[in-house]
Amino acid sequence: MADTFSTHAGQDPTLRDLLAARPALSMHAIDGLVFEDVPLNAIADALGTPTWVMGARTLRGRYARLSGAMRDAGLDVAIHFAVKANDHLAVLKVLGAQGAGADVVSGGELCRAMAAGIPARDIVFSGVGKTRTEMELALRHDIARINVESAEELELLSAAAVACGRTARIALRINPDVDAGTHAKITTGLAGNKFGIPYDRAADLYAHAATLPGIHPAGLAVHIGSQIERMQPYRQAYARVAELVRVIRARDLTVEVIDCGGGLGISYRHETEGAPEALANAIRLELGDLGTRLEIEPGRWLAGPAGLLLSTVILRKRGYDGMPPFIVLDAAMNDLARPSLYDAWHGIIPLSPRDAVAPTEQVHVVGPVCESGDTFGHDRTLPHLRDGSRVAILDTGAYGMVMSSTYNARPMAAQVMVDGSRWDVIRARQKIESLWEGDIVPDTLTHPAGGK
Ligand code: LLP
Repeated sequence: MADTFSTHAGQDPTLRDLLAARPALSMHAIDGLVFEDVPLNAIADALGTPTWVMGARTLRGRYARLSGAMRDAGLDVAIHFAVKANDHLAVLKVLGAQGAGADVVSGGELCRAMAAGIPARDIVFSGVGKTRTEMELALRHDIARINVESAEELELLSAAAVACGRTARIALRINPDVDAGTHAKITTGLAGNKFGIPYDRAADLYAHAATLPGIHPAGLAVHIGSQIERMQPYRQAYARVAELVRVIRARDLTVEVIDCGGGLGISYRHETEGAPEALANAIRLELGDLGTRLEIEPGRWLAGPAGLLLSTVILRKRGYDGMPPFIVLDAAMNDLARPSLYDAWHGIIPLSPRDAVAPTEQVHVVGPVCESGDTFGHDRTLPHLRDGSRVAILDTGAYGMVMSSTYNARPMAAQVMVDGSRWDVIRARQKIESLWEGDIVPDTLTHPAGGK
């Protein structure tokens, strides 16, 4: 793949490049950095930092482009938002109102999607290990479908369905053994990955599924990875699915639906954003003539560019012996884990118009957590930032807040949703005391029974 996950490849985009590629962001001479129509300093003034900001108008715009691309290709494709990318109820509400269903991977995500008003009939349950409780939850709510990832899971689901007196509509998730050309930690369609059913076993398992009580085999699913930039791996995977549909139909079984997965990439740095039109074309060319219902389950492409993380420079730490200084932010790897997990590159832009035009310098941008991996940018060329300067870390709407933790007893950051010119708090900053709210200290620790 290109250089999303590497730290040193090529010249970084300048502030001007970053802004030019993000129409929802603009730099104003007085208001500074504006997202949709809201000056981000106003949010930081009111709530402090770190604070996540999601853009409702941006989300709607991206959904419209994706669904429009499918329609223009003559395809009727249901879009199930991958809830793992951003599970905030407000985000799910905005997308649900546009017509999105949900792709969930846990009972928790299933409940969140339903709490946001997404009807069970528009929810698909994926994932490599669903517990009996999660299966029963899905069956009781009669969700659209459960994507089964193994022969073992199929048997467990059949037993759960019989016990609940329900029929599970299922798709078999195929592992097509295709290299999506993405980061090793987020590629899922290779034979060695834990995901899906080996291609050569799928037709037999589908036939077996048709004989199992409580199971209705409805179709096939495939998802080969995330942050995919090229269409060729999609084409390859879909061609393999199409072939399998023909094999299964030749055995007098029906295939009603194909779940084409997610994975469409965005441009964090130099990558070309995955074009929905190209994806639509790949689906049309490989799967368009099979007469099945079609679905996709994107997460990152819809939500990633619709989110930012606001942060403040705590201090500048001098670099000695010609080393770049460290810019220490008040956001850390516990807030945004992607750079420390995948060496992911996220653009960083000052909020203040004065900072934006300051002379540039080479810096390391880090968080305060006690790990060297708590680094947002290595050798970045940024305008000179002062103590107290604020920045926006870009493209954090997907796999941002959802992957946060409270490591180092750092409370969860506040969250805001911008919608055009208005903004609302969608989650207050977590209170410090709530960090230990659930801790239980047994009395016996301080008053040991029969203690001396
Ligand atoms: N469907 C399935 C079955 C998936 O496993 C995933 C993502 C998606 C859909 C959505 O993929 P997307 O359209 O968002 O690429 N935390 C990593 C990404 C992990 C993706 C896991 N599966 C990151 O921050 O890059």
